[in-house]
Amino acid sequence: MNVPIKSTLDPEQQRITGDALRASVVDLIDLSLIAKQAHWNVLGTHFRSVHLALDELVSAAREFTDSAAERATAIGVSPDGRAATVAKEAAGLEFPDGWQQDTDVINAIVDNLSTVIRRFRERIDATEKADPVTQDLFIEIAARLEQLHWMWQAQLSTA
Ligand SMILES: [Fe+2]
Repeated sequence: MNVPIKSTLDPEQQRITGDALRASVVDLIDLSLIAKQAHWNVLGTHFRSVHLALDELVSAAREFTDSAAERATAIGVSPDGRAATVAKEAAGLEFPDGWQQDTDVINAIVDNLSTVIRRFRERIDATEKADPVTQDLFIEIAARLEQLHWMWQAQLSTA
């Protein structure tokens, strides 16, 4: 097969890292779509703050989608962000259709962020030896998602 982009990683490192990056692209697209769905459908007293916070999450997810996809290209792996691929490979993130109460939206976003963060922490472990440069990107993504996870929890918590 033609290899248009040569990798500096050996084949096994490239396979492990490429799989992690391609799965990250799927997760982050799914997260961005869920956050937009929630942005449009949220109702309630906290509409405005939740509506705006959801676009902050969309921006972060889209930015990191691009970072993960372009890191894949840099190690010679073709990223796949097609809707059909996301629909086939996305797993674990959930959001109901229709109008949603603001408090339910907050709980759903916290749960979905927890799921995505857990996967990034697995990818941080998986790439530690295979490619520390990609691991560094995963650490940056996890740090930002954990910051957002805190902020979403804080919207419902009481001291
Ligand atoms: Fe909007």
